[in-house]
Amino acid sequence: MSIRHTFTAALCLTLMGCLVVTHAVTLEVKEGNFTCIKAQLDANFSITYNITNGTNTVVLVLPDSASTNGSACGNVSSRLVASFGDGHVMSIVFSSDQRLYRVENLSLQYNLSDRNTFPQSTSTNVVSLETNSSGISARMNSTYRCLSSSTIRLNAAVSVIFSNVRMEAFMSGGNLSTDESVCSADQTVTTAAPPKTTTAPPSPVPPGIPERGNYTVTNGNKTCLLALMGLQLNITYLSKSQNKTVTEVRNLQPNKTSSSGSCGVTVSTLKLTEDLQMTNLNFTFTLNSTTQKFYLSALSVSASWPDMKETFSAVNTSLEYLQGSAGRSYMCSSEQTFAVVPTFSLNTFRLQLQPFNVTGNQFAAAEECRLDQENMLIPIIVGAALAGLVLIVLIAYLIGRKRTRAGYQTI
Ligand SMILES: *[C@@H]1O[C@H](CO)[C@@H](O)[C@H](O)[C@H]1NC(C)=O
Ligand SMILES: *[C@@H]1O[C@H](CO)[C@@H](O)[C@H](O)[C@H]1NC(C)=O
Ligand SMILES: *[C@@H]1O[C@H](CO)[C@@H](O)[C@H](O)[C@H]1NC(C)=O
Ligand SMILES: *[C@@H]1O[C@H](CO)[C@@H](O)[C@H](O)[C@H]1NC(C)=O
Ligand SMILES: *[C@@H]1O[C@H](CO)[C@@H](O)[C@H](O)[C@H]1NC(C)=O
Ligand SMILES: *[C@@H]1O[C@H](CO)[C@@H](O)[C@H](O)[C@H]1NC(C)=O
Ligand SMILES: *[C@@H]1O[C@H](CO)[C@@H](O)[C@H](O)[C@H]1NC(C)=O
Ligand SMILES: *[C@@H]1O[C@H](CO)[C@@H](O)[C@H](O)[C@H]1NC(C)=O
Ligand SMILES: *[C@@H]1O[C@H](CO)[C@@H](O)[C@H](O)[C@H]1NC(C)=O
Ligand SMILES: *[C@@H]1O[C@H](CO)[C@@H](O)[C@H](O)[C@H]1NC(C)=O
Ligand SMILES: *[C@@H]1O[C@H](CO)[C@@H](O)[C@H](O)[C@H]1NC(C)=O
Ligand SMILES: *[C@@H]1O[C@H](CO)[C@@H](O)[C@H](O)[C@H]1NC(C)=O
Repeated sequence: MSIRHTFTAALCLTLMGCLVVTHAVTLEVKEGNFTCIKAQLDANFSITYNITNGTNTVVLVLPDSASTNGSACGNVSSRLVASFGDGHVMSIVFSSDQRLYRVENLSLQYNLSDRNTFPQSTSTNVVSLETNSSGISARMNSTYRCLSSSTIRLNAAVSVIFSNVRMEAFMSGGNLSTDESVCSADQTVTTAAPPKTTTAPPSPVPPGIPERGNYTVTNGNKTCLLALMGLQLNITYLSKSQNKTVTEVRNLQPNKTSSSGSCGVTVSTLKLTEDLQMTNLNFTFTLNSTTQKFYLSALSVSASWPDMKETFSAVNTSLEYLQGSAGRSYMCSSEQTFAVVPTFSLNTFRLQLQPFNVTGNQFAAAEECRLDQENMLIPIIVGAALAGLVLIVLIAYLIGRKRTRAGYQTI
């Protein structure tokens, strides 16, 4: 870690405009001769620490000389570790499913005893911070590309700033794949360029399966509505950067979402508010007291996502989705898509909810949705067929035995 680097970066930050051209650092993780992670990137770490008289902020720059000792390759999880200076370490844990790989955990360790880097620090601790919401994901066998600068906060005082990023994990060859998953910030930059090219626009990064949120509504000191679900919004809106309508799919991030609402005898509501992306969802559940069935009767959404020309809002008050019986919970592990209006649909994943008659802060017995039952049907059919086969063999055997015995008797 050179002081000069730190100084230049700090100067850049102060002047709010930086003319220093940086070149990306290349990091590679190998197992034998096989490369599993390759990353070309610029990483700066902005760190505010305590000094006697207040606080000081420095910007560390990941140097070329960073060591990748401690990195590891795996089938579903791989780790890139970059150590530099006096005990400073950035580590990136990648995980994968069949379709996507993503950054599961981004962590930074820095050593406040390093007086050259952290002059006048009152602490001599080694600080470790991490986040699991870096928002970095890409299709398998593609290179994640994000040339734009992106800031990932680890806490109020520390953030990681990436730029000029091209990286791939779970690689199948030694070189970065030419197929790229382009981050949304780059897409707006790219499309601002002259559009009259015949090449296809970069394909957007699919958001993957949303995390499952645990949302509740309380009435006084009693929980009266329970919902466990992963939510994905699919909105068609007018794009600021492209001046045309685009369809964007985004996951609701449970960690940034708060829930509230109200419970009544025949109407309950659940209101979800996501901070950073400014997404609001309002669910209204109605209980038909004749049939003793509840259902999602209305859903409204409002969103102001970064590329939206204006705030998107939509509502449909004549829905009959998510039907369940009073006193039970409704469960659907399979993905379900709910069309709300032509420009907005909601995808749900691993859902269980109960909008009425919650007792003791837990779900009542679950009623499974049709999709789940159909998924269950296949093993049942196979099982039944096998049982049938066993029965036929058994009958054939018994008949055979009876005949043989009959044969003996006639002798
Ligand atoms: C790696 O490659 C070198 C030369 O290309 C070869 O000699 C060596 O055996 C290889 N090692 C492994 C573990 O495949
Ligand atoms: C800095 O000092 C303040 C007040 O003395 C304290 O609350 C805070 O936790 C300290 N920050 C760090 C990073 O140690
Ligand atoms: C705190 O800062 C002020 C002005 O920056 C300085 O005059 C003072 O001596 C400092 N105090 C300590 C204890 O460092
Ligand atoms: C932290 O820095 C100090 C002083 O530079 C050094 O002696 C110590 O070994 C470092 N700690 C780690 C964990 O590297
Ligand atoms: C994140 O990575 C850091 C460093 O590798 C590790 O100490 C920490 O336990 C990891 N956290 C999770 C949740 O995996
Ligand atoms: C990625 O590439 C490898 C080797 O070419 C192939 O075996 C694998 O199926 C590919 N995975 C996906 C998700 O395309
Ligand atoms: C909840 O509120 C009721 C009435 O206000 C009270 O009797 C009960 O003890 C409270 N329960 C808990 C767990 O605080
Ligand atoms: C989003 O909605 C569009 C238009 O209704 C549809 O074509 C697309 O398949 C949907 N995508 C997802 C992931 O639901
Ligand atoms: C956006 O497109 C409309 C027609 O599609 C055009 O009239 C308008 O001038 C465009 N606005 C910008 C800022 O390019
Ligand atoms: C949410 O964030 C907290 C810490 O901020 C973390 O412990 C937890 O694992 C996160 N949960 C999910 C589902 O990401
Ligand atoms: C309850 O369901 C019945 C049968 O579907 C229907 O006729 C009736 O109008 C419903 N009641 C309300 C209040 O929606
Ligand atoms: C509301 O949802 C219903 C049922 O899915 C649908 O028939 C109706 O067209 C929707 N209303 C609007 C305004 O899109």
